[in-house]
Amino acid sequence: MEEQIYLNGAYIPRTNANISIMDRGFLFGDGVYELIPLYGKKIFLLDKHLKRLKNSLNLVGMENSDFDINNIEGIIKTLVDKNKYEDYFFYIHITRGVQNTRQHIYPEKIKPTVLIMGENYPVFNKDEIAKGFTASMQSDFRWTKSNIKSISLLGSVLLKNYASQNGFYETLLIRDNKLTEGSASNVFIVKDNKIFTPKLSVDLLPGVTRDLLINLLRENGLDVFEKDVTESDLKIADEVWCCSSTNFVVPIIQIDDITINNGIVGNIALRVYDLVRNFISAY
Ligand code: PDD
Repeated sequence: MEEQIYLNGAYIPRTNANISIMDRGFLFGDGVYELIPLYGKKIFLLDKHLKRLKNSLNLVGMENSDFDINNIEGIIKTLVDKNKYEDYFFYIHITRGVQNTRQHIYPEKIKPTVLIMGENYPVFNKDEIAKGFTASMQSDFRWTKSNIKSISLLGSVLLKNYASQNGFYETLLIRDNKLTEGSASNVFIVKDNKIFTPKLSVDLLPGVTRDLLINLLRENGLDVFEKDVTESDLKIADEVWCCSSTNFVVPIIQIDDITINNGIVGNIALRVYDLVRNFISAY
């Protein structure tokens, strides 16, 4: 049977799913999203993702839309049953909805478009993690509301493709001489056994994985500081790693022409990788 997805109340095959050209998500990128992992049929950290989704909806004035985000759990469970997913990812996409004419101003009452579907993103194995990845550094030219998980991702798309077209895994973003995040990840650095990650602000997404890593590291006696990380801190770091729901720890051993830790993945990155793996196994 063809893979089923959820669109506006119906479970339908992915290839039959269509939306109107008048959808504001299509015309304006007017909407928000979430990406939630599924491990062994269990929805990972659903409450944290729903909390962030609620916040994104609030920040774009969609808090009163008539879709109740508490229905998401049941929808995902139905999709897991229908498609027999075990380890997978769920993409949740809520746009402001369909309007008769293309205009910036949206009506007070508009029905949101809700899409929920499984995605099979590649997850790196331990050998790949242990070898490390490369990154480039670019100026963060995105907007200053990067705390919203907005579907308007052109900036991130250009920045991630810059990395991929130039043989890097990720692009690390610098604004006002400070690290914000990666094009699709949050970033941690280690210096003298102390761990740093940029503090939350409008310049970065409050990553669910970022939060998990901070908690696991602290529970295991490591010092984590949420504070500004400058471009030069990044360049002289002992370790750098990126994190996201798709790949929770991706060690970076080279940034442009700068080699980190002689090109060897650091011990703390490997330790936190194992801590997350264990946390997932026990989840
Ligand atoms: N993106 N920062 C940005 C800009 C991101 O796009 C992501 C994740 C993160 C990490 O957030 P989390 O740990 O909650 O996944 C940080 C997802 C994976 C995506 O857009 O596909």
